[in-house]
Amino acid sequence: MQHFSILRSLVRVALANDTPPLRHQVERLVEAMSAAGEEKEAAALKKMLSTASRASELAPSRIAKSRTAIAVGERLTPTVPVPVDKESAAELATVIMPDQIHVRLPLFPASVQENVEALLQEWESAEVLRQAGMRPTQSLLVYGAPGTGKTTLALWLAQRLGIPVVLARLDGLISSYLGTTARNVGALFTFANRYECVLVLDEFDAIAKLRDDPNEVGEIKRVVNALLQNMDSRDGRGITIGLTNHESLLDPAIWRRFEVQLAVPMPEFDQRVEIARRFLDDDEAAGAEAKLLAWVCEGVSGAELQTMATKYRKRRLLQADSGAAPIRTAVQLSRSTSVHISAERRRQIERDDAALTRDLAATDSTFSNVELAALFDCSTKTISRRLGGGGEEGDTDAE
Ligand SMILES: Nc1ncnc2c1ncn2[C@@H]1O[C@H](COP(=O)(O)OP(=O)(O)OP(=O)(O)O)[C@@H](O)[C@H]1O
Ligand SMILES: [Mg+2]
Repeated sequence: MQHFSILRSLVRVALANDTPPLRHQVERLVEAMSAAGEEKEAAALKKMLSTASRASELAPSRIAKSRTAIAVGERLTPTVPVPVDKESAAELATVIMPDQIHVRLPLFPASVQENVEALLQEWESAEVLRQAGMRPTQSLLVYGAPGTGKTTLALWLAQRLGIPVVLARLDGLISSYLGTTARNVGALFTFANRYECVLVLDEFDAIAKLRDDPNEVGEIKRVVNALLQNMDSRDGRGITIGLTNHESLLDPAIWRRFEVQLAVPMPEFDQRVEIARRFLDDDEAAGAEAKLLAWVCEGVSGAELQTMATKYRKRRLLQADSGAAPIRTAVQLSRSTSVHISAERRRQIERDDAALTRDLAATDSTFSNVELAALFDCSTKTISRRLGGGGEEGDTDAE
């Protein structure tokens, strides 16, 4: 065959980045050549295909190749002893192996989601960045209100990277013995720097809170200095993720040490619907019920909404025989729950069904008449009548 040597080189170059569509096309070429009686050439390409497939089985995944660019050190195993507080003997951190982490990425607004994906892409392509003389983000501060998914996000990132987590709650490092807190900080970082891991510093503001105590002025300075020095010592060792509810309490020098600061907001209506959905039964009716819970839980954190949705699902299951409308279950639950339902919503759910229907329909939450009918367990005619659109004579649904 004319120009076969060029064709063979072309296939070799292409197979360096073996993908299923490429493989399919080369296989087609092999078949076509065999059919045309070019057996020798077809066999040569076939051999290249099988060599490439062996190579790709052996090659580390993209992330495995990048691992060395995002974390260095000895392999961390569950049996490696974790440093302890000398006075109380309490462990200064918890080691979580990647196969022990089973979390889903919290639902964030699109802008936050994009930032999370961009970070992950940097880490997954760390090797590419390194070859171009750059390095991926080394430290990330995640801040936001309690229960907005910060810890879950940190664990999810580590799970995606397949690297063990060294999780330390900074309030757990604080000791009443002078000098011990700074020593604990040092011991924690020495441990994290020695092993291949993602260091997660939870409750990061705990150290800053020491400031409230006038007797602690010397101690807080010592601890902040220890933190600053130790954070610098992480350079090139691995990723450090700080988590805090009170970013305003953080020392500005510590704040600046983090390369990326990511604000995690309270979930908006659309995310609340999706969060509620995750914890409800996944049938069709759950769509309307998830919207209802999202509406009731205006201004509430993801964690509280999760509690609410789980309790709701339990009650619905146990009340299955009672025939109670979904709205009744939600109202009862809202009255008794510890979840922080807003005063406005508390007032609205106590109104009669007609007023409540109008309130639900009037929000931007886009309840359709069919959904409202499912929630109140009545007909759509009743719903349109309540909404002032009239209903047919003889519609006898109870109000
Ligand atoms: N936006 C969200 N989407 C889905 N689930 C969420 C969201 N926010 C919180 N959750 C759920 O709430 C629970 C608690 O979340 P998590 O512990 O990550 O919050 P946190 O921000 O770390 O809270 P804290 O500030 O109290 O430490 C988790 O089970 C998590 O899945
Ligand atoms: Mg947390």
